[in-house]
Amino acid sequence: MAGKIGIIESRVSSNAQVGDGVFLLKVEGDYFAVPGQFYMLRAWELDPLLSRPLSVFDIAEEGISLLYAVRGRGTERLSRLAPGNVVTLTGPLGNGWERRVGRVALVGGGIGIAPLYYAAKVFGNTNVYLGFADTPYLVDEFDRVGRVHVTSETGVRGTPGLVTDIFDPSGYDVCYACGPRPMLALLDRFCRSDEVPLFVSLEERMACGVGACLGCAVKTIHGYARVCRDGPVFRSSEVVWDG
Ligand SMILES: Cc1cc2nc3c(=O)[nH]c(=O)nc-3n(C[C@H](O)[C@H](O)[C@H](O)COP(=O)(O)OP(=O)(O)OC[C@H]3O[C@@H](n4cnc5c(N)ncnc54)[C@H](O)[C@@H]3O)c2cc1C
Ligand code: FES
Repeated sequence: MAGKIGIIESRVSSNAQVGDGVFLLKVEGDYFAVPGQFYMLRAWELDPLLSRPLSVFDIAEEGISLLYAVRGRGTERLSRLAPGNVVTLTGPLGNGWERRVGRVALVGGGIGIAPLYYAAKVFGNTNVYLGFADTPYLVDEFDRVGRVHVTSETGVRGTPGLVTDIFDPSGYDVCYACGPRPMLALLDRFCRSDEVPLFVSLEERMACGVGACLGCAVKTIHGYARVCRDGPVFRSSEVVWDG
């Protein structure tokens, strides 16, 4: 954990659409987090009831950036935010990824690329594998912080296909990944057979975000764990993938 959890009310500095239904929200203020940690965000009073968890995309002098895909009511409301609007962030929450020595691969699929930018920036010297369904976004930004490899299912940019088609863990000392569960389960198989440690960030639905409701429980080999409190980062060999 990077430090004390805070509840911070701040102003939006920008909220730009960067991809199909994907927005990059920038919020002013002083923030801290380790890569892989998240904030619970709200930009409304009562409806929807719950704040929404978003990973740290970046932290810089000007503030924090969060990359999100519009899914439902909460993220749709976020997409309507304009500069000057006020949002409330609670965090940083969760455990995050620890930097390990050696050759590091970061693998993201879909909106699972969100926590990888900050990880690449903080860790330095990483290979970053980004898988998109259609037109890729923010690739030039990722290029500034790591060696980037891109796939798109439509073949519009990068290698046609899935990120798991091009990713080979042999040659790496550690891998970090975030994305759809089937992608993470496949990476777990690849990494196990090459004996490369894999740490995954799980994005379960959440309610309280602080370990109180068990709404985000996932099955691990040690029993149920709370994604918000015990994760969101888990060693992949400890997750029960077919549970
Ligand atoms: C630790 C963590 C970090 C996350 N980081 C990011 C991020 O950086 N960027 C980002 O875009 N999203 C992220 N998510 C997912 C994001 O929180 C949800 O997409 C968001 O809460 C949906 O809210 P909504 O009100 O728009 O949709 P809702 O109205 O709540 O749901 C709309 C639809 O999306 C589905 N859904 C909602 N949440 C999830 C989920 N977690 N997994 C799968 N399906 C879901 C619902 O079943 C429903 O079909 C993260 C989730 C977690 C737990
Ligand atoms: S969301 Fe309540 S325990 Fe995790």
